Amino acid sequence: MSKMNHYFATVARGLEEIAAQELEDLGAQSVHPDFTGVHFVGDYSLMYRVNLWARTIFRVLVTVAEFPCPDAKRLYQEVQNIPWEQYLQPHHTLAVRATGGNRQLNHTHFSALQVKNAIIDQQRRQFGERSSIDTKNPDVLLNAHIHQNRCILSLDSSGTSLHRRGYRPAMGLAPLKETLAAALLTMADWQPTMAFFDPLCGSGTLPLEASLQALNIAPGLFRKSFGFEHWLDFDAKCWEQLLQEAKNSQIAELQAPISGSDRNLDIIKQARINAEKCGVAQQVSFNQTELSQVEAPTDTGIILCNPPYGERVGNANQLGDFYKQLGDVFKQRFKGWTAFVLCGNKELAKRIGLKASRRIPVYNGSISCTLLKYELY
Ligand SMILES: C[S@@+](CC[C@H](N)C(=O)[O-])C[C@H]1O[C@@H](n2cnc3c(N)ncnc32)[C@H](O)[C@@H]1O
Repeated sequence: MSKMNHYFATVARGLEEIAAQELEDLGAQSVHPDFTGVHFVGDYSLMYRVNLWARTIFRVLVTVAEFPCPDAKRLYQEVQNIPWEQYLQPHHTLAVRATGGNRQLNHTHFSALQVKNAIIDQQRRQFGERSSIDTKNPDVLLNAHIHQNRCILSLDSSGTSLHRRGYRPAMGLAPLKETLAAALLTMADWQPTMAFFDPLCGSGTLPLEASLQALNIAPGLFRKSFGFEHWLDFDAKCWEQLLQEAKNSQIAELQAPISGSDRNLDIIKQARINAEKCGVAQQVSFNQTELSQVEAPTDTGIILCNPPYGERVGNANQLGDFYKQLGDVFKQRFKGWTAFVLCGNKELAKRIGLKASRRIPVYNGSISCTLLKYELY
């Protein structure tokens, strides 16, 4: 059996439990949610699978070492004790990111520099040459997390964050992160057998994530690369097999319609380009429609939307009437549906004028929001 490793999947605040369930479903063992992350255990093939299939996590970190780290000197020594030739050769480019800190190590930039210096000093002694630093696109991305008097060093197997699926070059105003959109669909208990509609869809993140789920399309299929592909122990055969499996497991047709609309034609055009990019343009429909004109596409289904709430788009004072209109449209035209609204402003949410049957706290970036559920009958 191949070697088992300890992994840490980083996630947005509040999505730990949803991500933990997703990791279990993908075959992870010893899954244990923590603050903004989930610990789990598995072999390399599981780590590849998670990078390819996970919809709600940002990055998969692989623990390299954990050691006491009260100050800069100890950090440097401990990093020098690690046999780095197992992980990178001088021709590989490197970047080190540090997070957290303690009394002595309270500048992440400085901590990262200590780690980098310890590695390249070791390389110079061993090989007479060193890795160059590439902060944008490194072959090996190392993460040093310092908490109290300990440091955890991990390799970032994802490279760039997994919310960057690669299907969205075009972005509307204030788009949702793809990882959050996927998690909202889970919170709404949406299933591929249910119709899905977002009347304020912007660049289409919610309908697109719904269609990827419904068609069993792996979200990582559109990415150009992952961090682990540059590693010395990269198992290209295993990765090819996983990619092939993913391509073979796609479903051809939706079981229920998925659609989005927005009043802004330019943004709708972007949504269509994005749908094209992830190969679902024939399945999802995007229409330019003013909220006041929308009609229910079927008798029943799930509406999920994030209206502007003043923090990023629009002005809170002018938005009250818009929220009232949203509630009116739900009540008058979507009988039999269940609506979910992601809202970051309590006063505006009240203007919807319907009684919420559930309120789920959610963070949209740093904005504390609520996902409000309305049963429309
Ligand atoms: C916060 S954005 C939604 C972002 C979207 N979830 C995404 O990921 O790209 C809100 C959207 O509501 C749309 N909108 C605002 N007022 C509208 C109206 N009266 N009718 C239809 N769309 C409207 C805006 O054009 C904007 O794209």
